[in-house]
Parts: sequence; structure tokens; C-alpha cells
Amino acid sequence: MTNANELLAQISESFDAAIKSAKHPLRTASVATVSELGLPQVRTMVLRKFDEVNKLIGFHSDYRSDKIAHITKNPNIQILFYDKPGKLQLRITGKAKVHYQNNITLDAWNLMVDNPKKCYSCKSRPGQLLHDSSLLEYIKIEDGYNNFSIIECAISTIDYLYLASTGHQRYLINFESGSISLQHIMP
Ligand SMILES: Cc1cc2nc3c(=O)[nH]c(=O)nc-3n(C[C@H](O)[C@H](O)[C@H](O)COP(=O)(O)O)c2cc1C
Repeated sequence: MTNANELLAQISESFDAAIKSAKHPLRTASVATVSELGLPQVRTMVLRKFDEVNKLIGFHSDYRSDKIAHITKNPNIQILFYDKPGKLQLRITGKAKVHYQNNITLDAWNLMVDNPKKCYSCKSRPGQLLHDSSLLEYIKIEDGYNNFSIIECAISTIDYLYLASTGHQRYLINFESGSISLQHIMP
């Protein structure tokens, strides 16, 4: 039987590698929110932070995007990673909160170079109808900070599925009681 802390440390090591390398298979995740109508909405996002000690996972986003409104109304999210070469699926469930114009967003913004900052410097919000080409214009890069936010999810469970030729292995790591527990479950 695998140990919960050892498995978490192994996951954390992989996420740290993914945060540093754009080519890592765990670099992107499918992040699902619940819309105002109670419907699932899923999109790809780049992993920006994994905090093994505090059980937090983080992503950057445009504050004007739909997902921010979803999380503000309903914090329940699910995050799905698939590492094909590593034969690993990780399904993370938790409650998200949005950081906007606070010390956390300012520190992250100050560490960013111009290229990613530019993503937040579009005049129009993500999903906006482009009925006029002026809506495609950019504002000053530094003003993009007004559109920058960080989604931080407090993890309640990690569903770990390793596809092994000798037999798949699946574990549920649970943090809900404030401590860490591990259940070996059917793949
Ligand atoms: C490879 C890839 C990486 C992406 N990374 C992010 C990201 O880190 N943050 C983000 O807000 N959107 C990211 N997007 C765009 C989202 O998938 C989505 O289209 C956009 O955020 C609007 O989502 P929403 O309308 O559901 O809020 C990424 C898309 C792709 C294809």
C-alpha cells in the first residue's frame, strides 16, 4: 500500500517540473467550473502554482473572463491533468477563490515578462463579440494588471490513476478533514 505523504510528494515533484517547463505533459489542465445556469464549463489552463504544504493549486486568468464570474458565484471546481507518457491521470477537486489587485497578484505580475502580460492587455474581454476591429486593440501593457487575476483552489481531493501494464493503480487522497488520508480504490 502506498503512503499518502509519499504519493503527494511525488505529485508535487511532477507539478514543480511542469511549472518550470512549457513542454511538460502536466503543464496544462482542463479546468471545470459551474456556470450561473448550473452547467459545466471546461477550458484549458496553464498550471502556475502547486503548494504541497497548504494544499493549493493556482492558475492565472483574465479577470473579465466567464470563469471568474462562475467561481465568484460557485467556488466548486475540478481540474483534470493527463500525462500520456507518464501514464498518469490526476483529477483534483476543490474550492477556488479569485485573487484580484492584492499582494499575491502584484507579486506574480512583477515576476512576469512582457509577453504573458500582453495577454491581459487586450481592450476586449475574453468571449466579447468583435463587431468592430477597434475592439482588437491593445491597451498599455502595464495597464493589463487591471485585468489580471489568480485563481487559487484549496484542494479537497486528488484522484490519482496510474495506468500500468501490470494492472492500473488508483488512489484517492483526501484533505477534507484537515489531515491527509489515502484510499486504494478500483481503477
Ligand atoms: C494551451 C492553452 C492554454 C491556456 N491557458 C490559459 C490560462 O492559463 N488562463 C486562462 O485564463 N486561459 C487560458 N487559455 C484559454 C482558455 O482555455 C479559455 O479559452 C479562455 O480563458 C476563456 O475561458 P472562459 O470564457 O471559460 O473563462 C488557454 C488555452 C489553451 C489552448
